[in-house]
Amino acid sequence: MWAVIVAAGRGERFGGPKALIPLLGRPLVGWSLEAFARSGVVDGAVVVVRPQDADAIRRLAPPGLDLAVMPGGERRRDSVRSGLDAVGAGRVLIHDAARPLVPPDLVRRVASAAGGAVVPGLPVSDTLRRDAGGRLRSVDREGIYLIQTPQAFEADDLKRRLEAEAGDMTDEAMLYETEEEPIGLVPGDARNIKITYASDLALAEAIVSSGAIQRVGHGYDIHRTAEGGPLRLGGIDISGTLHTIGHSDGDVLLHAVADALLGAAGLPDIGQYFPPGDDASRGLDSAEIVRRAVDELARCGLVPVQVDATVVAEAPRIGPHREAICAAMASLTGLSTTSVNVKATTEEGMGEVGAGRAIRAYALAVVLPRPWARRSTEIVPHP
Ligand code: CTP
Ligand code: MG
Repeated sequence: MWAVIVAAGRGERFGGPKALIPLLGRPLVGWSLEAFARSGVVDGAVVVVRPQDADAIRRLAPPGLDLAVMPGGERRRDSVRSGLDAVGAGRVLIHDAARPLVPPDLVRRVASAAGGAVVPGLPVSDTLRRDAGGRLRSVDREGIYLIQTPQAFEADDLKRRLEAEAGDMTDEAMLYETEEEPIGLVPGDARNIKITYASDLALAEAIVSSGAIQRVGHGYDIHRTAEGGPLRLGGIDISGTLHTIGHSDGDVLLHAVADALLGAAGLPDIGQYFPPGDDASRGLDSAEIVRRAVDELARCGLVPVQVDATVVAEAPRIGPHREAICAAMASLTGLSTTSVNVKATTEEGMGEVGAGRAIRAYALAVVLPRPWARRSTEIVPHP
């Protein structure tokens, strides 16, 4: 099954486009992608975005999930239609990127329910009143639901209905209201809030971090250098006259980052996962090592929210490459570039590092439990 995540809106009520804004250091869309990847019922996701966001979104592909990116349209329905163009026949989930905290078990619940259209909903608990020409009139809340996404449909059927109906809509189940067959309702999840206004972001942050114990990990590595470039550092190649020697690609910075991530989960160092001298890891791209560390964290129900690192080297100067390194490390860890940092210093000419015969790196990583790894706040609708 495929999911279409619509993320191409203008975010007028929020104050700007929302798709890539950081929620605790991770881009909004990244949270949903993780949830779909972890649900175990979704093979791939089409993210529908503004063209200028396409590259940044492509870098967020979590392991185990095929990712396609499609351009959004003027109205929500145009964006959904564009996403459906990248999806074959069969069941499809339509999800708002504006709901980053969708729990994987909600994805499974919607995906497995039978019906032409299936939506998650929560019963309303507040008193409802409608403004009737300046007079407030009570509305009976019995049987009223707050409807969330993801919503499930037959892709071909949804395409047909979208073509037949000209108006815009706030969800696709609206196209099914005239049907004899009722829209299927499954219990929604109170954590699955929609980020509409800027204040909703603070609420989402509170949901993710409430009761969560933030954990910190430390990583350190050192590699000898040798003549001849390029130097592999922080996931990029830096041209110059030296490189680091290593059994893998010798990326001292990524090794420190991977150890910091593993350390935050109380896991052993990268040597346990990629034994030194092992044939399988000869010349290994250290990006794989970081991805493995992120995956091990996920198995523990943890997610990185910040990485800070320091490179100690006489040469090269890191400043000109800092932005590219941060972008590469952000992509590998699923973080926003603003939550990844690399700094550099020299060893003031002292020792092996000072003589330019070695480069060292230190890293710190902060991780949080995924919101859905904690107690469920699921509310079951009344029948
Ligand atoms: N969306 C979209 N294409 C559009 C309009 C909306 O992909 N032309 C997506 C949004 O990116 C969002 C979801 O639909 O993930 C729900 O919409 P909403 O919260 O209304 O987001 P925006 O339309 O971006 O915000 P606003 O209505 O305040 O401008
Ligand atoms: Mg909108």
